[in-house]
Amino acid sequence: MENLRFEKNKLYILDQTLLPNEEKWVEIENEKHAYDAIKTLMVRGAPAIGIFAGYVTALFSKGKDIYKLKEYLDSARPTAVNLSWATKRIVHAFESGGNLIDEAKAIHNEDIEMCRKISEYGLSLLKDGDGILTHCNAGELATSKYGTGLGPLILGKEKGYKFHVYSDETRPLLQGARLTSYELEKAGIDVTLICDNMASYVMKEGLINAVLVGCDRVAANGDTANKIGTSGVAILAKHYGIPFYVLGPYSTVDFGCKTGNDIEIELRDGEEIKKMFYKKPTALEETKCLNPAFDVTDNSLITAIITDKGIAKPPFEKSLKELLK
Ligand code: MRU
Repeated sequence: MENLRFEKNKLYILDQTLLPNEEKWVEIENEKHAYDAIKTLMVRGAPAIGIFAGYVTALFSKGKDIYKLKEYLDSARPTAVNLSWATKRIVHAFESGGNLIDEAKAIHNEDIEMCRKISEYGLSLLKDGDGILTHCNAGELATSKYGTGLGPLILGKEKGYKFHVYSDETRPLLQGARLTSYELEKAGIDVTLICDNMASYVMKEGLINAVLVGCDRVAANGDTANKIGTSGVAILAKHYGIPFYVLGPYSTVDFGCKTGNDIEIELRDGEEIKKMFYKKPTALEETKCLNPAFDVTDNSLITAIITDKGIAKPPFEKSLKELLK
């Protein structure tokens, strides 16, 4: 399932805010349009944001200050490392006199390759018929192809595996309901939507063999920043003795962050909680809302971090470095 097209020097994205009710492709006109597309989640999911920002920096930096453009785009969403990682690659290409569009295409193609490898490593840990719980959307809509958290399921489907997936709806922006269930239905994978507060129920009922989630930044000690609510799912998984797997490209590991405490968490407009997707606000105008977009999952709750370079197991401080060897 495609979420981005680069054709005849024009950049188009599938507007993910309209899914699953409408499939609308939008041409990106300029850098402000691109910034708003990232901020409002028209394009979202850490790797997809990186790929998009790579093309945007390459396309709209002509005759402008590329460093300012990078800073501007990076500020749209601070938590996922992929955004600043991709814009940095385009800036490096600029500094070395390379072709910026070619570099953006390289980021895009490499992501397909990385997701394929993550999916293969992830699939090696699963069995045909497994029940899987996932949170948010870490599939093809969030990446280039296959996905990270959903990658093993999509690859497994190609190989004839039958999984039973439970998708947390993922309040407040409903990526699990709007995107994961849509994407898995389209892929022909059995999916059941649950509210976030039902995760304990499905685990207790014995319906879940593994939890698979994507990630936005991995600290050197293996703490990971994931979609808000993920750490609660990890605590439940530990309680019920269910493996909890975090999947992402190795470039998501940020050795500049020693622990999860060093990861900046994006705070979004609290009004989203009361007003997004509802005909009428669900609380009084004066009621305050706190709306962090991500939370940090403590490394003690993670069974393995699955990257394109291999599978890291605790102690992560050591295993994450060893994957580079
Ligand atoms: O806020 P979003 O929708 O961009 O958040 C997406 C996630 O949290 C994903 O799990 C994460 O980016 C990994 S994407 C493969």
